[in-house]
Amino acid sequence: MNLWLLTLWVTFAAAWVDNQGTTCTLYPESLTHHGQVVDDSPSIQQAFDLCGTNGTVIFTENVFHVNTVLNTTNLLNCHVRLRGELRFSTNIPYWRTHAISVVLQDQVTAWLFGGHNVTLTGENGGFYNGQGQAWYNANRNESNQAGRPISFTVFNSSDLVVDGLRIIQPQFWATFVWASRNVSFTNLFVNATSDSEWGTMNTDGYDSWQSDDLLVENATIICGDDCIAAKGNTTNLLARNIYCEGGTGITIGSIGQYPETPDYNLNTTFDNVTIKHAMDGAYIKTWQGTRIFTPSNGDWGGGGTGLVKNITFRNFDMEDVGLPIQVAQCVYSAGSNKSCNTSTLQIEDVKWENIRATSRFNIASSIYCSDERPCPNMSFENVNITSLNATRGQAYYDTDVQYELFQCSNVLGVNGSGIPCNQAAPSNFSQWIYGNVDSSGWATAVSDHLGN
Ligand SMILES: *[C@@H]1O[C@H](CO)[C@@H](O)[C@H](O)[C@H]1NC(C)=O
Ligand SMILES: *[C@@H]1O[C@H](CO)[C@@H](O)[C@H](O)[C@H]1NC(C)=O
Ligand SMILES: *[C@@H]1O[C@H](CO)[C@@H](O)[C@H](O)[C@H]1NC(C)=O
Ligand SMILES: *[C@@H]1O[C@H](CO)[C@@H](O)[C@H](O)[C@H]1NC(C)=O
Ligand SMILES: *[C@@H]1O[C@H](CO)[C@@H](O)[C@H](O)[C@H]1NC(C)=O
Ligand SMILES: *[C@@H]1O[C@H](CO)[C@@H](O)[C@H](O)[C@H]1NC(C)=O
Ligand SMILES: *[C@@H]1O[C@H](CO)[C@@H](O)[C@H](O)[C@H]1NC(C)=O
Ligand SMILES: *[C@@H]1O[C@H](CO)[C@@H](O)[C@H](O)[C@H]1NC(C)=O
Ligand SMILES: *[C@@H]1O[C@H](CO)[C@@H](O)[C@H](O)[C@H]1NC(C)=O
Ligand SMILES: *[C@@H]1O[C@H](CO)[C@@H](O)[C@H](O)[C@H]1NC(C)=O
Ligand SMILES: *[C@@H]1O[C@H](CO)[C@@H](O)[C@H](O)[C@H]1NC(C)=O
Ligand SMILES: *[C@@H]1O[C@H](CO)[C@@H](O)[C@H](O)[C@H]1NC(C)=O
Repeated sequence: MNLWLLTLWVTFAAAWVDNQGTTCTLYPESLTHHGQVVDDSPSIQQAFDLCGTNGTVIFTENVFHVNTVLNTTNLLNCHVRLRGELRFSTNIPYWRTHAISVVLQDQVTAWLFGGHNVTLTGENGGFYNGQGQAWYNANRNESNQAGRPISFTVFNSSDLVVDGLRIIQPQFWATFVWASRNVSFTNLFVNATSDSEWGTMNTDGYDSWQSDDLLVENATIICGDDCIAAKGNTTNLLARNIYCEGGTGITIGSIGQYPETPDYNLNTTFDNVTIKHAMDGAYIKTWQGTRIFTPSNGDWGGGGTGLVKNITFRNFDMEDVGLPIQVAQCVYSAGSNKSCNTSTLQIEDVKWENIRATSRFNIASSIYCSDERPCPNMSFENVNITSLNATRGQAYYDTDVQYELFQCSNVLGVNGSGIPCNQAAPSNFSQWIYGNVDSSGWATAVSDHLGN
């Protein structure tokens, strides 16, 4: 048998995993099924079983149909090269009952990935297609639908690099790093854009939880929720060179949801970030100090404690942002009279440095620390925020306040902080506002939260 025939034989024997030594090359089943859609998940799973240790897994330049969940964990010294399209099925009832739990908020994922010394590279235009439109339509602008899967979750990993990953139309959060250490996402591209009347709620770009020593560098994220959200016990995260469009900006949070597991979010720097047309910019959000049921969130939350400390938002350029700078300690009880000022989650040592922004309304910042835990060491350095209308020489409408507002409540040591507080931050701000603020401090329209 010549080498070519041998290759062909091995290819068929291994059902579209061409396994040569420690390299597994994947071809989709559709190539032998006259283009019909056949689930490629079993062969993908097989490739990782064969080559996940000391090996290489290559997705060739073809369309792969992913109709069942992927659990490719415990990899070791493995390189994954994504050159084709991973097209996730839109069988919503299937995913709702089979996606893998990630524990946090009862969320689930379509692909659990991870291991030690692992590299995943997107090459030759290869990408992850979540076919999220079906999910956006089914979600009908609600929040946190049960069983709506996170596209790609890195779990239980160390020394893991994801470079050049492109995620188009993520089903829910695009990427999530959980229980991991030394993980970097470089040259990440996410685009969640809806073509229907329904929005792309909860399509966060990058979220992290219970993880240390993280890098996000050179990311373009177009989405309908947080571009980056550092959730509980995210420490030593550096995110730099980020372009963020739509959605709700860059955040620490939300945290403080669970009393039994305090959230410590320490040592995080966001550097060189561009944000366009977003509801929020550089912000921190926590639950209130009491437990309440939030129908929009479909879950109980609040009463969680912890510490947010040593956070820097540096070199931000924002355009048309609803709340460019915010600290909110009751985003899920805003306006509901449900103990907004009770959070015992301490926030301190937060710096906004070199921030240039245009705000959508007449408000630049709202820093609301709870009565229970006022915030020390908050500072602004070279913060220049002008409202869009002011930059055009126009007046604000529907308000008696014709200047830019910088709201503060329970911010300690304001003198010398550089924060030009000129109004009390009201206790009823959710993370979204829809209009100018008047002299009473209340926004023309606030909404109950939808993202988290
Ligand atoms: C994988 O490679 C490491 C060395 O890098 C070696 O110690 C280990 O035995 C290899 N494992 C297998 C299953 O080949
Ligand atoms: C995922 O696969 C690992 C083996 O790599 C296994 O231990 C684990 O139980 C699986 N998890 C789920 C949720 O199936
Ligand atoms: C990490 O994995 C790569 C293969 O992806 C391998 O070449 C390298 O030797 C591994 N590093 C260590 C320290 O084992
Ligand atoms: C994002 O996706 C939308 C809809 O497919 C498309 O119109 C837009 O050009 C995409 N943006 C980028 C930067 O690729
Ligand atoms: C759904 O929310 C989006 C904002 O994300 C909004 O543009 C759209 O009008 C809403 N759709 C409906 C039908 O209310
Ligand atoms: C990120 O972009 C910068 C500027 O373009 C470049 O110098 C750097 O090498 C890039 N980083 C990675 C990991 O590609
Ligand atoms: C800042 O980020 C942008 C991408 O948003 C990148 O083009 C630029 O090179 C970065 N600047 C520096 C100094 O790294
Ligand atoms: C965060 O870490 C601390 C221990 O340092 C632990 O007590 C707490 O439960 C952790 N919280 C979460 C959300 O994992
Ligand atoms: C925060 O950074 C400082 C200085 O690098 C370091 O000493 C400290 O251990 C870090 N804290 C955590 C929780 O990693
Ligand atoms: C704060 O965090 C930054 C990294 O974001 C680190 O370089 C610095 O050393 C930390 N400072 C302290 C006092 O821990
Ligand atoms: C602040 O930014 C505006 C544009 O948004 C600019 O016109 C103005 O010169 C800047 N002010 C300072 C002091 O840099
Ligand atoms: C800005 O000015 C325009 C009129 O040019 C007005 O329609 C719009 O409501 C104003 N925006 C705010 C937030 O006041």
